[in-house]
Amino acid sequence: MNKMLNVALGERSYPIHIGVGVMAQDDLILPHIRQKKVVVVTNTTVAPLYLDRLQSTLKKGGISVLPVILPDGEQFKTWETLNLVFDAMLGARCERGTTLIALGGGVIGDMGGFAAACYQRGMPFIQVPTTLLSQVDSSVGGKTAINHPLGKNMIGAFYQPKLVITDLSTLDTLPDRELKAGLAEVIKYGLIRDPEFFLWLEDNIDKLLERDKSALSYAVHRSCANKAEVVAADEKESGERALLNLGHTFGHAIETGMGYGEWLHGEAIAAGTLIAAELSCRLGWLDAEAVTQIEKIFLRAGLPVYGPQLGAGKYLDLMSHDKKVQDGRLRLVLLRGVGEAVVAEQATVEQITAAIEARCT
Ligand code: NAD
Ligand code: GLY
Repeated sequence: MNKMLNVALGERSYPIHIGVGVMAQDDLILPHIRQKKVVVVTNTTVAPLYLDRLQSTLKKGGISVLPVILPDGEQFKTWETLNLVFDAMLGARCERGTTLIALGGGVIGDMGGFAAACYQRGMPFIQVPTTLLSQVDSSVGGKTAINHPLGKNMIGAFYQPKLVITDLSTLDTLPDRELKAGLAEVIKYGLIRDPEFFLWLEDNIDKLLERDKSALSYAVHRSCANKAEVVAADEKESGERALLNLGHTFGHAIETGMGYGEWLHGEAIAAGTLIAAELSCRLGWLDAEAVTQIEKIFLRAGLPVYGPQLGAGKYLDLMSHDKKVQDGRLRLVLLRGVGEAVVAEQATVEQITAAIEARCT
């Protein structure tokens, strides 16, 4: 059965439709498209799997598709790849009113969204996420970006989609490693603000790994409900939204330090979350049992609980580019318990270094 959520942002509010087969439901997508031509930004892996399906749905409304098929991978989340989208849209004389649909995982969603934000100063944009990670996190909330050699997601814009179509059947083809990486962001919601969901995850993580549709539907819906609430309260991250970055300051350092694409985003976030938990413990905010409890769920999800040995100095250098840095001071998302996160500046360089050294192998 389909589920629907609303991201409440006044006149920029939008629905998220979650269900098996929603990509084929023309009544969900057609009312949101104004022209008879759309651009579908996707990649070389997703296009052969799902482009035809989306194209057939759009065809029912007499809508033709300009496909823009990008190379696949985090290492292609760059200016050069973004330009391919602009080249195709300008070449085909797309207008400001043409809709751009991002069909793929978080890399395609973030790049497609950024292209839509920039093209003729903003064109309508729809997210059709096809990885667990993009379904529970990146397709919702309007963060769009590309990477820079000095830092992840450093160039981008807040730009909300008009609609999110989350078809759970796309998860059938997702490689196991990618499914596990998506679980990192699911666990995040339990840790930062939803302790009841964390308990549910402890009971149901195996079902999620087995791709049980009813468990996946519950987890995707509950994750999106958490995210929608946070985004509605703090769209541009002046406060509460920063909590969604638990593990990300350390995790982004891992992704950049190792070379984009080496560690999957979710894997880096898992290890980063354990560094944050270790630091919270050293500050006396989290007891050792809670750290073990957190470690256990990530291990059960098949995710790393130790970061790579980049050296603490390298971590700190990369972390100094974090978007939460204010007046040169590092602000980190830390835990005060399972289900309660805070943004904190108290940790000293020595304490952060010790936590990194304890949690990297
Ligand atoms: P991804 O987009 O690289 O997708 C993972 C892999 O799965 C890719 O090879 C992709 O082609 C493939 N794939 C996608 N759907 C598939 C399917 N249904 N079947 C088979 N293969 C499929 O990675 P991701 O984990 O989806 O997203 C990670 C990105 O999202 C990172 O760049 C991260 O920075 C970003 N992100 C953004 C936000 C946000 O709020 N905007 C939040 C979290 C993460
Ligand atoms: N993924 C973090 C955010 O959307 O704010």
